[in-house]
Amino acid sequence: MSTKTKKIDQSEQFCIDTINGLNANPKYLSSKYFYDQTGDQIFQQIMDADEYYLTNSEMEIFATQTEELAKTIALNGYPFDLIELGAGDATKSIHLLKQLISDEMDFHYLPIDISENVINLLSETLPAQLPELKMKGLNGEYFEMLKEAASFSNRRKVVLFMGANIGNMTPEEAAHFCEDLRNQLMDGDMLIIGFDLKKNPLQILSAYSDSKGVTKSFNLNLLRRINREIGADFNTDKFDHYASYDPISGACKSFLISLQDQQVMINGESISFNKNEPIYMEISQKYNLDEIDAMMTGCGFKPVKNFLDAKEYFVDSIWQVG
Ligand code: AVI
Repeated sequence: MSTKTKKIDQSEQFCIDTINGLNANPKYLSSKYFYDQTGDQIFQQIMDADEYYLTNSEMEIFATQTEELAKTIALNGYPFDLIELGAGDATKSIHLLKQLISDEMDFHYLPIDISENVINLLSETLPAQLPELKMKGLNGEYFEMLKEAASFSNRRKVVLFMGANIGNMTPEEAAHFCEDLRNQLMDGDMLIIGFDLKKNPLQILSAYSDSKGVTKSFNLNLLRRINREIGADFNTDKFDHYASYDPISGACKSFLISLQDQQVMINGESISFNKNEPIYMEISQKYNLDEIDAMMTGCGFKPVKNFLDAKEYFVDSIWQVG
């Protein structure tokens, strides 16, 4: 490979994104870097926290409306590939997999995850739990792996994108993402996508400012990761976590706030923080059903069916191309 086209590896990219974000005004960091090994563990604790309703709400949908979900994607039994973006440990999708197997549907499960660990673990645990499951794990970026999945067979595709991961994009980024997704799919293909719904603002806010401070440590962990992987000297005691929610736009945002004027050395570069200066860390966008409808139809999808939990906190929404 020539030097001009040398590919930037993941750690170089992390360094570039971090320095760029902290030199910007306002400062920002990318939430995609939250998930190192410790970040994965803290996120697990967030999902177990009393205030973080999202996981239980979506779990309820997959555990209690499984038959109807399976029937909706079955399309008269035509064989298909079920492709899960960001499969994680598949604790929710396993309900659907079991149902599809018991319905004797002809399908292959293709989980995609950026983490090799996740894919290796799934490839061990799922076949042990579901011996009849035909699966092939794909480790890599969503769109690259979607292309690989498309070349895997010419069966129709059903894409699963759960966990309100779409919420970690701004509405503009989300529309762009869904448009790209739609362009990778063919007429008749389907998408099941999980959105966290707008609700009582205090309830949303408490999910991102939990009483035990787990979300705070999730955010601070990124500073620790920068210290370790890029070579920086952040003192995490000198930053606090602040979450805000705008009930009109539906944007729930997380920030770290510098508690004093300070200089931080990052990869040999000194970066100044003013007292009370925020670092914008993450968006967790909330939608109502009309907003979801407008975005998805705008991207060329047709509505099939919405599955909501009993409290109407969360929706897994099914869309079809064509
Ligand atoms: C992964 N994602 C959908 C979570 C969310 O709710 O935005 C990440 C998270 N950040 C703080 N708490 C949870």
